[in-house]
Amino acid sequence: MERTIKKIAVLTSGGDAPGMNAAIRSVVRTCAFYNIKCVGVNRGYEGLIEGDFNVMDARSVKGIINKGGTILKSARSKDFRTKEGRARAYENVNKAGIDGLVVIGGDGSFTGALIFNEEFGFPVMGIPGTIDNDIFGTTHTLGFDTALNTVVEAIDKIRDTASSHDRLFFIEVMGRDVGHIALNVGIAGGAEEILIPEEDLGLERLVESLNKSRKSGKSSSIVVVAEGDKIGKNIFELKDYVDENMEGYDVRVSVLGHMQRGGSPSCFDRVLASRMGVKAVESLLENQSNFMVGLLNNNIELTPLENAIKGKSKINLELLRVSDIMST
Ligand code: F6P
Repeated sequence: MERTIKKIAVLTSGGDAPGMNAAIRSVVRTCAFYNIKCVGVNRGYEGLIEGDFNVMDARSVKGIINKGGTILKSARSKDFRTKEGRARAYENVNKAGIDGLVVIGGDGSFTGALIFNEEFGFPVMGIPGTIDNDIFGTTHTLGFDTALNTVVEAIDKIRDTASSHDRLFFIEVMGRDVGHIALNVGIAGGAEEILIPEEDLGLERLVESLNKSRKSGKSSSIVVVAEGDKIGKNIFELKDYVDENMEGYDVRVSVLGHMQRGGSPSCFDRVLASRMGVKAVESLLENQSNFMVGLLNNNIELTPLENAIKGKSKINLELLRVSDIMST
């Protein structure tokens, strides 16, 4: 049965990403535009279970489009994985008169949303927010573009000191299961090699490639390593391996870590967040549910949540080829 949507809740869940605030702002302002009520849920699904809601009007989201992080805070909720936890959440949304939920997060957050819908028939809509860009059904997740710019800036700085000391740097970037960040920043930062989970270069080939680049006249080198790389060694073991197997290289390691998740969102992420928020609310108002909004061929399109969760975001093979040619 179709329900008239009069009140929408929005939450952020999983690892935060720049652009989440811009998406919250967009959801809230779109609700205001259509004259329906909006509430923010604090701390992701935890807040849903505890009924931790606050009313949000158009003015409540002023001055946040340029802010990193999420004003609603984020959490990875264990309790929402239990039936009891979800039942409490459903009780709370009913009590508060909420008719639909927008979840801004990654595939784990979408799985929660889908189960919540299956159990209670509650309308849900997803907005992909993660710096990893590892969601099927969108070419860009919120925060990915900003993270790329942050990392490239960091690599540029490391390159300065690497070349002053003729050093080889292993730089670890985020990407739990995927190499999207590594591949892009590797090309943009002029890395000699890029190690990503999707492609197993192998240690011998790495050493071979580094030797080749040294022979070709390069005195310093940058190797970008995705944290989820499957080469079988962590970044410090990689350093030890190169120390042991290559003469005369002064090797250093830099793990960029959580700084990649922070900072003011790029123009691209702000615009994307604004577009996605509008589409998420309008789709709920049209009685659509169980979809994720995504960017496909520069249009904002809906993908069934189930596909977004199960599908694999593929690495761009053309970028792999370009990176190979560039490290000549
Ligand atoms: O999913 C985004 C991400 O930043 C991954 O790249 C990283 O592995 C993970 O989150 C880190 O999670 P946490 O914030 O729990 O340390």
